[in-house]
Amino acid sequence: MSYIAAIDQGTTSSRCIVFDAAGSIVSVAQREHRQIFPRPGWVEHDAAEIWAAVQEVVAEAVGDLEITAVGITNQRETTLVWDRATGEPAANAIVWQDTRTDEQLRRFDAAFGEKAFHERTGLPLAPYFAGSKLAWLLDNGLRARAERGELLFGTMDSWLIWKLTGKHLTDVTNASRTLLMSLKTLDWDPEILAAVDIPAIMLPEIRSSAEVYGEVTSGPLAGVPLASALGDQQAALFGQTCFAPGEAKCTYGTGSFLLLNTGTTPVRSQHGLLTTVGYRIGDEPAVYALEGSIAVTGSLIQWLRDNLGLISSAAEVEELARTVPDNGGCYLVPAFSGLFAPHWRADARGVLVGLTGFVNKGHLARAALEATGWQTREVIDAMNADGRTPLAALRVDGGMTQNTLLMQFLADVLRVPVIRPTVAETTCLGAAYAAGLAVGFWPGTDALRANWRQDASWQPAWPAAEVDRELGQWRKAVQRTLDWA
Ligand code: G3P
Repeated sequence: MSYIAAIDQGTTSSRCIVFDAAGSIVSVAQREHRQIFPRPGWVEHDAAEIWAAVQEVVAEAVGDLEITAVGITNQRETTLVWDRATGEPAANAIVWQDTRTDEQLRRFDAAFGEKAFHERTGLPLAPYFAGSKLAWLLDNGLRARAERGELLFGTMDSWLIWKLTGKHLTDVTNASRTLLMSLKTLDWDPEILAAVDIPAIMLPEIRSSAEVYGEVTSGPLAGVPLASALGDQQAALFGQTCFAPGEAKCTYGTGSFLLLNTGTTPVRSQHGLLTTVGYRIGDEPAVYALEGSIAVTGSLIQWLRDNLGLISSAAEVEELARTVPDNGGCYLVPAFSGLFAPHWRADARGVLVGLTGFVNKGHLARAALEATGWQTREVIDAMNADGRTPLAALRVDGGMTQNTLLMQFLADVLRVPVIRPTVAETTCLGAAYAAGLAVGFWPGTDALRANWRQDASWQPAWPAAEVDRELGQWRKAVQRTLDWA
């Protein structure tokens, strides 16, 4: 028997999962890594620690299984610069949630213009994306070495490809999150690079998401082709087999990200959604997606656990929320990294409103879960406002989909059925599928579709008038996060 391995380098942990030809999980290993918060609004990772964790999970999951190919999926936008000669990180990686780059974004705007960035890259000027993080690193001590060609830039896919094969590459989905890639040419945009002063010499070559990049040079995967890389949200789109225009998924992890396949033409949003590359298989045309990115969903539950001590494990939040019938009149908007889609306000800050002496910790737990539902609703409303055909159903995946209270709330507020597949680890599955396609392990996307199985679904049950009233309250709470700014 032979298998496909996938490495998922995520925001809070790194995992390796091995899949068989039916897309079923054969083995899993996972390690968490440190979240480094040097100042309010700053979030960093130690890339050497992450590389050590990746090596450990690969060894544990692969064991003596025969692996035909390996793929990578990763937290997107997290930005690293390392030394070309030694392979050592030049600084901690700046994580996608980090909001330190106001000054660089003002410079980007002055040099090229927000509108031109949106037209070329499909993205608003926001600290979320890798470009301003790279500019910050250059502006804070690394520019001279970068210009001499001593330093390399990469997102986490690129770092792992370099460590595993010695090649300096990235895939088109990750590159589409940098503010530096043209959606038309699918290559670095030389005019943007010149305008914002990023040395092209430090950038990886952009490749498709599914092709053999090289063979792994050492460790338990030595000699195995490294055959895919996709940002984790695009990998989940692939793992959910959303291969047709109009198909969408939402992944509920640290943050939540709803991606809608829009086919081979990029569609521009007028309502705060991102245009991004969904995937590109080898030489085939790229498939684009509209994305609604929500910065804080699962990480709000971790915050209840770690910062407030309200629960001792993330799973306990459901039990606590079920101790009360409703939110008791309180609303929690977790604008910890500002607000992402559809608002794109880096300066927004979180609020908890509607407090009375009646509110207890059960209500807080419920308000925290409802925040995930309402933020998803805002993204769906933006898609509808952009004139997309309304979704008939939403495919969901990720850790939070184990929370059935949340799944029912989602169906209630989105007013469409919510469907969970049997393999909830769709990010790894997508990377495995792409790698397997690249080496002929699977014949084509039809074979992958045939693997998809529904595990559970939830139907809308709340009366529409009640949903509308609660949505109005949520919108007022969101307004407070902007007023605070
Ligand atoms: O854009 C950020 C996203 O890729 C992070 O995903 O699952 O690591 O929170 P996750």
